[in-house]
Amino acid sequence: LHIVHIAAEMAPVAKVGGLADVVAGLSKALRNKGHSVEIILPKYDCMQHDQITNFKVLDVVIQSYFDGNLFSNNVWTGTVEGLPVYFIEPQHPSKFFWRAQYYGEHDDFKRYSYFSRAALELLYQSGKKIDMIHCHDWQTAFVAPLYWDIYATRGFNSARICFTCHNFEYQGTAPAPDLSYCGLDVEQLDRPDRMQDNAHGRINVAKGGIVYSNIVTTVSPTYALEVRSEGGHGLQDTLKMHSRKFVGILNGIDTEIWNPSTDRFLAVQYSATDLQGKAANKAFLRKQLGLYSEDTSQPLVGCITRLVPQKGLHLIRHAIHKTSELGGQFVLLGSSPVPHIQSEFEGVADQFQKNNNIRLILKYDEALSHCIYAASDMFIIPSMFEPCGLTQMIAMRYGSVPIVRKTGGLSDSVFDFDDETIPIELQNGFTFDRADEQDLSGCLERAFSYYSRKPMVWKQLVQKDMQIDFSWDSPASQYENLYQSAVAQARGAAQ
Ligand code: ADP
Ligand code: GLC
Repeated sequence: LHIVHIAAEMAPVAKVGGLADVVAGLSKALRNKGHSVEIILPKYDCMQHDQITNFKVLDVVIQSYFDGNLFSNNVWTGTVEGLPVYFIEPQHPSKFFWRAQYYGEHDDFKRYSYFSRAALELLYQSGKKIDMIHCHDWQTAFVAPLYWDIYATRGFNSARICFTCHNFEYQGTAPAPDLSYCGLDVEQLDRPDRMQDNAHGRINVAKGGIVYSNIVTTVSPTYALEVRSEGGHGLQDTLKMHSRKFVGILNGIDTEIWNPSTDRFLAVQYSATDLQGKAANKAFLRKQLGLYSEDTSQPLVGCITRLVPQKGLHLIRHAIHKTSELGGQFVLLGSSPVPHIQSEFEGVADQFQKNNNIRLILKYDEALSHCIYAASDMFIIPSMFEPCGLTQMIAMRYGSVPIVRKTGGLSDSVFDFDDETIPIELQNGFTFDRADEQDLSGCLERAFSYYSRKPMVWKQLVQKDMQIDFSWDSPASQYENLYQSAVAQARGAAQ
């Protein structure tokens, strides 16, 4: 198949969170299954240009529609992770992707509606025969209604559309008239069964993605169930109505990038059969961060996260205190797009500045994240909700045992070590149910108890976790099956 992903992020060139990892990892896995895969991204000024090879601007200039006018777009190409990527550079006076950050701009709705339209225009003008256009999150969900309402009527209709919603908290809403910037017909779409938002007078792009796509997915089976009831942030009825085309597929991780036996960021590489290297990484990180202690046998708890309410901020704070109380060490690597949350955690960091067992590093740091996965013994994710979560899978691959709240994709990937109803071979971490401090404390205590009292049992758990297959192989096959049946249906219909 010829598959094109249109997205706002792709690792490692433009990454804010897990979306970037998924776009890169899924694309690579599909390519390895023999498909032709391309990716279209905005050309951000702040992206990691050194992660692109053969980066060059093409001769063609694409004209695309926006707010009653045509604007030129330069198109750049390059290779990222061995995959062909196109970067769209709008020649629009608002300099949409020249903002020194990825998201959080007052005109995000406009910027991404512009990008979605220009990306489709690029595909249309290329004349390529495309089987599947896969868009991700609300930023590129405009693609679905644009494709069926505008491009398909121009004869560009061989492709089918897949929309993956990575997080239903973010839906992309705006006053209804704003939908017309990209050329969509507001009157047609501002209806309850199309793109009308629950809030009066507003339009909802994620809803448009659901209504207009041939395939709709989210990133774990449990989250797919949750969002059809109370977790759908207002989209539950739409999802129920379209449930025949809606499915949850658990993400994978890129096991080439996340591989402790080859990871170039680590002080020492290691594997499940040679855990000495893991201990060396722990010693190295402790030294690097000034985590001193007489007792080097105490466990190190890691946490790497965007600091947003979804991630259970009060529970993260509690986990820091509880770890300290239990005599462990804690490293948090995180940053927040929300200024008051960032400063609140800066306050916590100050509070622990003189404590040799706690470190909060409040920034985004790819290299340090690898070192923390490798150095930590336990990894905490106390999310309020979690569509999939990748950090628990990465942690396990690096032999750091996950301690998670049982929600969304965390429930589908972490199975409690003490739960006798779960087959022993699946037990891989520690889970708790309620989003309260007591449940979290109890869970941490259990993990600490195994760590200190049953070191051999702990070691076997670490080795088991490192060998679990979290690769993209199986999830990519599930996407492949969905694509193929949608394409077969389309071909059937055309005959
Ligand atoms: P989300 O997408 O909701 O942020 P995921 O668990 O799916 O959560 O993915 C998070 C990704 O971002 C992981 O690859 C994680 O290592 C990375 N990450 C999060 N915060 C940081 C940070 N401060 N520095 C480096 N990497 C980070
Ligand atoms: C979102 C979700 C996260 C998921 C990621 C990749 O950011 O918050 O749970 O893992 O997307 O799908």
